[in-house]
Amino acid sequence: MSNTLNHLLDRNVAWVDRKTADDPDFFRRMAEQQMPRYLWVSCSDSRITANDVLDLDPGEIFVHRNIANVVHSSDMNILSVLEFAIEGLKVEHVIVCGHYGCGGVRRALANERSAMVDHWLQPISMLYLKHRAVFDAIPDEAARIDRMCEINVEMQVRRIAATPIVEKAWARGQPLHLHGWIYALHDGLLRDLGPHLSAIEEREALPSIDHRVLHPAEAVSAIRRQALDAFSALEPCC
Ligand code: CO
Repeated sequence: MSNTLNHLLDRNVAWVDRKTADDPDFFRRMAEQQMPRYLWVSCSDSRITANDVLDLDPGEIFVHRNIANVVHSSDMNILSVLEFAIEGLKVEHVIVCGHYGCGGVRRALANERSAMVDHWLQPISMLYLKHRAVFDAIPDEAARIDRMCEINVEMQVRRIAATPIVEKAWARGQPLHLHGWIYALHDGLLRDLGPHLSAIEEREALPSIDHRVLHPAEAVSAIRRQALDAFSALEPCC
């Protein structure tokens, strides 16, 4: 067996051929500058790639991914990405996109304590331990994990909204909208869970994350509405 990755390099050449056949100027434009309007923060899971699920070209979305899309206020990586996206690229939207069936969230609920990743997942496991009775009352394990996947999206949107980077952007009047989405692996569809935050006052007006845990019906109804919208949008129009 070869230890080179020529099959991938061949795919790259084929991709370049396809791109330039459709659009001869594509790579010249890419080389000049990027002007993404969106920053995408999602899980490292190999099944959720921003450009694919949003059907966007390179250059259209700036991306940060980590296990279970967690935002740590001491993580230089995400803070650098956030700062450059907002202050340098002037993105207008930051999308935190979790996914159902997230292995990181599953591990956080299993309350493992044996690896580096368990430190990483600590914000999720701490929320779980605080509301263990609520989560454990969901009898189906997959549903329990999915519920935490939803809550985790909202928690991370709030954490981004709490960064001085975002606060400064809002304070100087820069248009900046935060979104919480979730992706379903089984159908490829995105659901808009919220919260949508465009100002410090909106962040301050949110009920607590504990309230969200204790009142799941609010979030579930939003998900169902979004799912229905998504399905109806798929109906052929003519
Ligand atoms: Co995941």
